[in-house]
Amino acid sequence: MDCCAIKVNTENPFYDKIKGFSVGENNHLMLNGVDLVELAELSERPLYVFNELALRDNLRAYRQALDRFYPKPSALFYASKAFLNSAMCALLHQEGAGIDVCSEGELFIAQKAKMSPEKIIMHGNNKSEKELRKAVEFNIHRIIVDNYSELVLLNKICSELNRPCRILLRINPSIEVETHKSIATGVKESKFGFYRDLDKIPEYLKENCSNNYVHFKGLHFHIGSNINDLSSYENAIDIIFDMIFSLNKQGINVEDLNIGGGLGVRYQNEDIIPEISTFVKVVCEKIMGTCQEKNLELPSLMLEPGRSIVGEAGCTVYKIGSIKEGYDGVLYAAINGGMTDNLRPCLYQAQYSAVIANKMNDSGKKYMYKIVGKCCETGDVLIDQIELPLCAPGDVLVVFSTGAYNHSLASQYNKHTIPGVIFTRDGRYDWVSREQPLEDLTQYDIVPTYLGEHL
Ligand code: LLP
Repeated sequence: MDCCAIKVNTENPFYDKIKGFSVGENNHLMLNGVDLVELAELSERPLYVFNELALRDNLRAYRQALDRFYPKPSALFYASKAFLNSAMCALLHQEGAGIDVCSEGELFIAQKAKMSPEKIIMHGNNKSEKELRKAVEFNIHRIIVDNYSELVLLNKICSELNRPCRILLRINPSIEVETHKSIATGVKESKFGFYRDLDKIPEYLKENCSNNYVHFKGLHFHIGSNINDLSSYENAIDIIFDMIFSLNKQGINVEDLNIGGGLGVRYQNEDIIPEISTFVKVVCEKIMGTCQEKNLELPSLMLEPGRSIVGEAGCTVYKIGSIKEGYDGVLYAAINGGMTDNLRPCLYQAQYSAVIANKMNDSGKKYMYKIVGKCCETGDVLIDQIELPLCAPGDVLVVFSTGAYNHSLASQYNKHTIPGVIFTRDGRYDWVSREQPLEDLTQYDIVPTYLGEHL
């Protein structure tokens, strides 16, 4: 296997940059004082492990920056599509944050966790009548309307229920951003928001908001996800304020502005990511400057970040199983998970950093590995190339920055069960989602009698 030996990398390890990690006396990787090698023993499946303190820190960083840099009311709605379970809702509740839901399912979880209606906003480019009805009945804070037909439907629902609702219109600012093309949502080719018919908005509002059921409150944009160039936000703010100015001239007041989410996180050592406070400062200053220039009143500001709250706060703990040398001397290390618990490398060619958590101070030779999953697909590659100490079956691989869009994108492909989730803090850990039991895999199956005589 010596053919693959490479130079030892002397730069600071990636985990030094991520909150909560340390190396214990036993050379094990620790998170908040919890030994991740010991945690790996709790399951045959991978484990999603979160730094609860980092989740709280990130929410507070947004709240504090908004308080510091924005003189008008502002509100934070965590984009729950990034990671959601009941404990996460409870934590949001404790931290006083709101939640952005984009489906009946996310709304259901928020309601079960007793999130109050004024802390909930709803998204979606094709909300069903049932979803809209539930949002209206629960009287959530804002419904973000994506298109004209949704506006008409919402007006009909409110009239039938004789209940009001408050809306923002989602605008597609049509700007290019530096991110993967599948997650750039404010480009003109994207399916989201009002784009072609922007000039018809006053007419749409007149038609659907005059009967006092649907109350127009303001505008929304979300330019995309994993964005680190803040000038993209400045460009979008310029575009949205041209629109606010024009609506204002037509007597339509924009009280709220929601600028979406999108701030990136560190996945690798070389990633340079703006701090949350810098991001908030830049957008607040831009909004204030633009309002001053155009002589407009400052709107209330809403933010809906997902990845930057949970991304770096989560890691995935795997065990290495089989190891083999393949074509051209490639060393394969296969883990007990894969594309079922982290689809992002397959979907977006996302790259991750990892360590062998039980060999943290190994100063020996490093080898180049390809980390592959256990699914029946050649493309089930978690990390294409990574330098690691010599690996052996049973070693614990910890992959960093997997807190966003890993658990929420998880699947049961090959009938692998969804891994459990653990929160860590101050040397202790708590399960917050049980690992999916095998019995679940047949729970919803129905075998008609004519097929099941032998059962
Ligand atoms: N608001 C809206 C309307 C959104 O669509 C999203 C994300 C967010 C806020 C939160 O964006 P964030 O702060 O998390 O970037 N599965 C992809 C990401 C899809 C993002 C979808 N929308 C990934 O794994 O990279």
